Amino acid sequence: MVGNIVGDRFVAVSFGESHGKCIGIVVDGCPAGLPLTESDIQLQLDLRKPGQSIITTQRKEEDKVEIISGVFNGFTTGAPICMVIWNKDLDSRSYELIRTIPRPGHSDYPAMIKYGGFADYRGRGRYSGRLTATLVMAGAIAQKLLDYCLGIQTTAYTIEIGGIRAKNLTLEEIKKNRYTNEVRCPDMQSAEYMRSAIMEARKDGDSLGGVVECISTGLPIGLGEPIFGSIESDLSKALFSIPAVKAIEFGSGFDGSKRRGSENNDLYIKVGDKIVTKTNNSGGILGGLSNSMPIVIRIAFKPAASIAKTQKTIDVSNGSETKLNVPGRHDPCVVPRAPPIVESVVSMVLVDHAIRAGFIPLVLKR
Ligand SMILES: Cc1cc2nc3c(=O)[nH]c(=O)nc-3n(C[C@H](O)[C@H](O)[C@H](O)COP(=O)(O)O)c2cc1C
Repeated sequence: MVGNIVGDRFVAVSFGESHGKCIGIVVDGCPAGLPLTESDIQLQLDLRKPGQSIITTQRKEEDKVEIISGVFNGFTTGAPICMVIWNKDLDSRSYELIRTIPRPGHSDYPAMIKYGGFADYRGRGRYSGRLTATLVMAGAIAQKLLDYCLGIQTTAYTIEIGGIRAKNLTLEEIKKNRYTNEVRCPDMQSAEYMRSAIMEARKDGDSLGGVVECISTGLPIGLGEPIFGSIESDLSKALFSIPAVKAIEFGSGFDGSKRRGSENNDLYIKVGDKIVTKTNNSGGILGGLSNSMPIVIRIAFKPAASIAKTQKTIDVSNGSETKLNVPGRHDPCVVPRAPPIVESVVSMVLVDHAIRAGFIPLVLKR
């Protein structure tokens, strides 16, 4: 049952449950000599935390990170970095009410069967969106390491919610505007429509899904270890560990599958003394290797399963049919909280590959 570990050289082990004492992550393999403080990590965590607006869950958690080990005198030491967040705003009553009544669309039923009823169901234990805070803690270190050593930057934002699509914007506009509104969409007009759609769904006791786009720039050629460790394989595997992720596309993705080769091929051109491509339909990856163009990924999130609307289900304690409107505090749409999580996961994979390929040394120069 070793499903809680990710990475080959930048390795992270996530632990804790939504309503347990704490959640946390141990990062092993971070080079020595990276300047690191709790506020580097807190900055990213604050972008993910719940209760920040009317369109997210009203669970209020401070999500204050504590670095337990691996940092000394403001620098990473090369030892495992253990980080924890103590859980505070716990209210497990609603989960007692539905302990034997699985929510349609959630992990309740398969988890109940697989772990023989022993799994911690409070707040949905390991399946809670709350566990993504552990990914953000490790991802914050990965993001800092990539920028510090190689100038690689990763930017994720909401591109679609409830079928409402943002217009195309430049990376500068995306970076400038994505956190200026609750839905984290840099196209202000679409952001307003998305917000109204979420409010409408919430009023109906329902939820909405959407898509996050993620762009990484500054990559060297050659990150990726084909064939099973191709950069696409490892990014996909890691991204699918974010709850509610149901589809991923790179570059022109599904749209590209409808084109001819002559339309989809990215032509090589010279810019100064650098060879680049005129378009980026490959999304920065060819043959499972980064090709120095921006890595572009779109990640589809399903509508959150926990909805107030009445749905049919089964009480597994006696096999009888029953009806459920899910009690408790839930996200009517998980997408607005997803960009920092996506950035974190992508950065963890990129830094792992940068270390594997020898682009980042094990001890950083002062
Ligand atoms: C940040 C975040 C918050 C989430 N909040 C909720 C929530 O409030 N209610 C809910 O039903 N699902 C929520 N989810 C999704 C569930 O955790 C997820 O759908 C469930 O574990 C089943 O897994 P699957 O959808 O990947 O199959 C959230 C996901 C994320 C990433």
